[in-house]
Amino acid sequence: MRECRVYSELVGHTITPEAVRARNPYALVLSGGPASVYSDDAPRVDPALFELGVPTLGICYGAQLMALELGGRVDRTGVSEFGRTSMEVTESQLLADTPPEQTVWMSHRDTVVAAPEGARIVASSPATPVAAFEAPERGLYGVQFHPEVVHTPHGMDVLKNFLYRAAEAPPSWTPAAVIEEQVARIRAQVGREQVLCALSGGVDSAVAALLVHRAVGEQLTCVFVDHGLLRSGEAEQVVETFGDHFQVPLVHVEASERFLAQLAGVTDPETKRMRIGETFIRVFEEESRKLDDARFLVQGTLYSDVIESGSNTAAKIKSHHNVGGLPEDMDLELCEPLRWLFKDEVRRVGEELGLPDEMVWRQPFPGPGLAIRIIGEVTSERLEILRHADAVIREEIRRAGLERAIWQSFAVLPAIKSVGVMGDARTYEYPIIMRAVTSEDAMTADWARLPYDLLERISSRVINEVSGVNRVALDISSKPPGTIEWE
Ligand code: XMP
Repeated sequence: MRECRVYSELVGHTITPEAVRARNPYALVLSGGPASVYSDDAPRVDPALFELGVPTLGICYGAQLMALELGGRVDRTGVSEFGRTSMEVTESQLLADTPPEQTVWMSHRDTVVAAPEGARIVASSPATPVAAFEAPERGLYGVQFHPEVVHTPHGMDVLKNFLYRAAEAPPSWTPAAVIEEQVARIRAQVGREQVLCALSGGVDSAVAALLVHRAVGEQLTCVFVDHGLLRSGEAEQVVETFGDHFQVPLVHVEASERFLAQLAGVTDPETKRMRIGETFIRVFEEESRKLDDARFLVQGTLYSDVIESGSNTAAKIKSHHNVGGLPEDMDLELCEPLRWLFKDEVRRVGEELGLPDEMVWRQPFPGPGLAIRIIGEVTSERLEILRHADAVIREEIRRAGLERAIWQSFAVLPAIKSVGVMGDARTYEYPIIMRAVTSEDAMTADWARLPYDLLERISSRVINEVSGVNRVALDISSKPPGTIEWE
């Protein structure tokens, strides 16, 4: 929906008709899902939702639920349909201007065998007599196939037909509109108070800071805590971009020694994260006390963070996923202008705000920084080795033009050494492990298939240029079962 430039939000299936009415949406979409409408734990909706006069599109399970609630029939036909399927289309509003015979992506067991009362069947496939139905007078539409996946070539057309024709929602949700709306919201929230923003160097906090700066100008002060666990040249880049380019007042706190002292002797990954998180908070608190009574704190929380926090089924894999995590007794009120955006949308807003490409398209980098890429103790010598190897990898990936295509590419320093031979002499030094992954959202990831000649260049440069390293290994694990980071 958002790619069609119509703003959309996820709400639970238990939403009440009153709550929907209060939001006054252009449209509702009932999503797909793995359940059968006949199973005990099947998610249901209040059937009164269908009487609100709000155009509604059911997708896969959502279409089956509509059929069931509205007088149609859903059967377990015994024939599952998975993958690409050929579908025949008749005259339809939903499928208007798409070919009479087309390929769609199916993934279902149950099947709608009778459309809801008064609805017309507008598409069918060999295994699915009701691949799409519609009752435009009542604003009801259902598709068994998945219009939202790339394997349905005309899927976007279907979504656009639904949005623009059926729901008459204008495609007006653009980065410029987001900026305008957020600027107004921030002004309304903040008034004339002072605002603080913790900058990490990443795209999220940078975009959040620029939005707030646009909204309230000099009321904003940014604080950049350099914990000494950043990559080569990173601190300078942040200071330069914000100080010179944007004229946002920036307090640069150099706290590497303090963080290193806290990490001395620590090898347990969780303890590392806790120590870094806590030290960060203390440093930040000290800095905010030095500034005039700020009342608001800007955070670059994303919609994906909001969705994940709303789930009580997710297991805790690691702590402190945001090193900007704040103490509970903090007096500052939060201002989160990216709370409704996904990462790719944040990037587009960043571009619109004039953030330089190298910041907008920066690969994600974890809050605890290089500390969680050093297995075992973090010392300044080991940081130096990792930072140097990482810089070589990043440079070669950039030169190969792969920086954007790869979600993250970096070096890991393990806590082992191995024997090698260099210039006829025996060496006993660290290996560097290279990790490069592709991903959509970091929830799952695959190891990037990098060209051999690039791997060769990286390997020989790292071994030749980084003292203390005599071997390069490549991590070829996907997530799951691995994670992207090593700790
Ligand atoms: P994992 O290692 O869990 O990482 O597969 C998923 C994504 O999150 C990043 N990451 C972090 N980001 N604080 C952060 O701000 C953290 O503690 C943290 N740990 C992992 C990781 O780089 C990847 O993009």
